[in-house]
Amino acid sequence: MTIKTMDEIRQMEKVCQLAAQTLYHTAKFVRPGITTNELDKIAHDFTLSHEAKPAPLGYHGYPKSICTSVNEVICHGVPDSTVLKEGDIINLDITCYKFGFHGDTSATFYVGDVSDRAKKLTEAAKDAMMVGIEAITAKGTTGDIGFAINKFTTRQGYHVVREIGGHGIGRGFHEDPFVPSYGKKGRGDRLLVGGTITVEPMLNETTAELVEHDIPNSSIKWYTTADKTLSAQFEHTVLITENGPRILTGY
Ligand code: MF3
Ligand code: CO
Ligand code: CO
Repeated sequence: MTIKTMDEIRQMEKVCQLAAQTLYHTAKFVRPGITTNELDKIAHDFTLSHEAKPAPLGYHGYPKSICTSVNEVICHGVPDSTVLKEGDIINLDITCYKFGFHGDTSATFYVGDVSDRAKKLTEAAKDAMMVGIEAITAKGTTGDIGFAINKFTTRQGYHVVREIGGHGIGRGFHEDPFVPSYGKKGRGDRLLVGGTITVEPMLNETTAELVEHDIPNSSIKWYTTADKTLSAQFEHTVLITENGPRILTGY
């Protein structure tokens, strides 16, 4: 984890605010009938119009500017001609690059009216992210975050994804440490004041395995639940301070 100077923190704040604005600007267009390609273009154009770059575009060969993960897609869904339909849930994951720094945030949105089942999972995913963020302390570890997320998630009757999680972030898109959505208090990597990480739990309805899918000409994979049950995710970029967490991608 790299410790940022006050100046670097100010740059991180700005790019994180832009990522949050891009996320909620794009989310306004989520409705039955729109394609994920159209959402990608909306986010892409908004980002460029703010003199920033969409970090995913070209990242390890990733072909689009955002990730759009619908229903059983766990993460890294690639925008395409898929038409959203009433009842879907969709995670929009936005990462902006500006001033030499990255801001990474995602949220799951409802397409029209959705089932209570989808709402419950989505709400739990948002709460799990907040519980994880609240577990951050100046003297803590990544295990504190994972422990809190997994405990909360299990009590809600859901299952965390273990293979993928949060990460350090700053000049690099994905930096050390890995921030798991499970763990033991006091284990894992030390959190450092002035460090910036993401907290981004993925919650599944069942214990079904992940299925990994290739993206042509890219080393990035996208993932679905093997039994096609729903998965939901939220993500914030967070600064670790003396007094605990400060969410940089708040909106
Ligand atoms: N934004 C994702 C994350 O939260 C990473 C997407 S990488 C991409 O870490 F290449 F798929 F865009
Ligand atoms: Co992200
Ligand atoms: Co991330």
